[in-house]
Amino acid sequence: MGLRLVVSNIYKHHNEKSLFEACSYSFDHSGIYVLMGPNGSGKSTFLRMCALLESPDRGEISYFEGNRALPKDINLMRRITLLFPEVGVFNTTVFKNVAYGLKIRGFKNNKIKEKVEEVLQFVGLIHKKEQNALTLSTGEKKRMGIARALVLEPEVLFLDEPTASVDWKNTEIIENIIIQLKKRLNSIIIIATHDKESTKRVGDFLLYIREGKIYKEHPDKQIP
Ligand SMILES: Nc1ncnc2c1ncn2[C@@H]1O[C@H](COP(=O)(O)OP(=O)(O)OP(=O)(O)O)[C@@H](O)[C@H]1O
Ligand SMILES: [Mg+2]
Repeated sequence: MGLRLVVSNIYKHHNEKSLFEACSYSFDHSGIYVLMGPNGSGKSTFLRMCALLESPDRGEISYFEGNRALPKDINLMRRITLLFPEVGVFNTTVFKNVAYGLKIRGFKNNKIKEKVEEVLQFVGLIHKKEQNALTLSTGEKKRMGIARALVLEPEVLFLDEPTASVDWKNTEIIENIIIQLKKRLNSIIIIATHDKESTKRVGDFLLYIREGKIYKEHPDKQIP
């Protein structure tokens, strides 16, 4: 049984600016959610709150397994991964960058090798595994970020602008990775993006932030 994320009646402001007011929505693993909204509307803040890295001013963000609300502890946080818009890169090989999360979780070296090589294959970076990650192109760094998230097999995955500053070719590769990912992991996946076209290709549920709330958009509707 998958996890369910329930956002109930949250309020959030930053610097006097109200971002969310009485906002509620719930998410499960039945499809990919794409969250849109203008710059500064609170997409990244929303993902950080859902990833339990920041709290709402009021209201609740809860995870349920069946009917059981899960305590917000390290065990839950380990099931959640947020890919930041700027992929942080360690000054070492692509392999070690991706292996890091498994290492700190105490996986054995042969298991790490197997898992890392599998995801690098999946994101098309296996031939770069010994290259220093700082020398990757922007699109490759994004793919490496996805590999790093993916290798942990998160049950909840938040992708913040996964295709920003990425060319169409890499965008297509990343989109395909995300679609495959959904089939493979059966996780809750929420993507924040500006890319309307990409949204239509990848998203099963298109969501829009308006006046502090999240609305579901009809796919054919013109998005401002
Ligand atoms: N930690 C913070 N401290 C102060 N203000 C913040 C903080 N985080 C976000 N903000 C402000 O909250 C507003 C929403 O920011 P957020 O990054 O969530 O928007 P966004 O929808 O992701 O925008 P973009 O499309 O540019 O990525 C912005 O005005 C931002 O400056
Ligand atoms: Mg943002």
